[in-house]
Amino acid sequence: MNVTKLAPSILSADFGCLEREVASVVEAGCDWIHVDVMDGRFVPNITMGPLVVSALRRRFTCTLDVHLMVEQPESIIPAFVEAGADVITIHQEATHHPHRALQMIRNTGLRAGLALNPGTGLDGLPYLADDIDLLLVMTVNPGFGGQNLIPATLSKIASARRQLVELGHGDVLIEVDGGINEHTIRQVHEAGANVFVAGSAVFDHPDRADALARLTKALMS
Ligand code: DX5
Ligand code: ZN
Repeated sequence: MNVTKLAPSILSADFGCLEREVASVVEAGCDWIHVDVMDGRFVPNITMGPLVVSALRRRFTCTLDVHLMVEQPESIIPAFVEAGADVITIHQEATHHPHRALQMIRNTGLRAGLALNPGTGLDGLPYLADDIDLLLVMTVNPGFGGQNLIPATLSKIASARRQLVELGHGDVLIEVDGGINEHTIRQVHEAGANVFVAGSAVFDHPDRADALARLTKALMS
């Protein structure tokens, strides 16, 4: 698959001027924005909810890629659908019923993603692959930006890509999230990822166009 997408994560943006922050990466050519939703239970941090997604939806036409780090996401999925999300990703570890949650998302016409923490294996993939558009392989433990990529996740990305092809779902996107920067992006791409979430590598850099160009260059090198 030839698709490659950079998805800046607004977790590392300045929330005091979020519209300007998002505009800075959209103007630099990004058409995916990654929105990290944390509930203080599944992960030890609290961020934003559907109101932020609907505010972004009113101002931007780009793909809003919503990553729910939330216990029992089933209860909050409808609010994010209503808010205007385009992709909603739930964590396998956050629900007893990942299949049902994925179907809830798909039944609304949105794209559904399944996220796996670094310590979670691919055992469920054969049973869930029919119901996903995207597999999010966490390359750090979720909860915070600015962490280092965990090297053991590289072999999981490669296995996931292999299994998806074998299952006849080679078109499922593999997204990677955590510690993606100029030094790691090529490795995760070679392993089989094609959507690259980057928080601090984009928003900690004052020149967003330059930060994105560096990532693209490292990806293509
Ligand atoms: C971590 C979040 C990430 C985070 C990545 O729990 O899911 O999306 O923003 O941040 P960086 O790119 O700084 O590792
Ligand atoms: Zn994320």
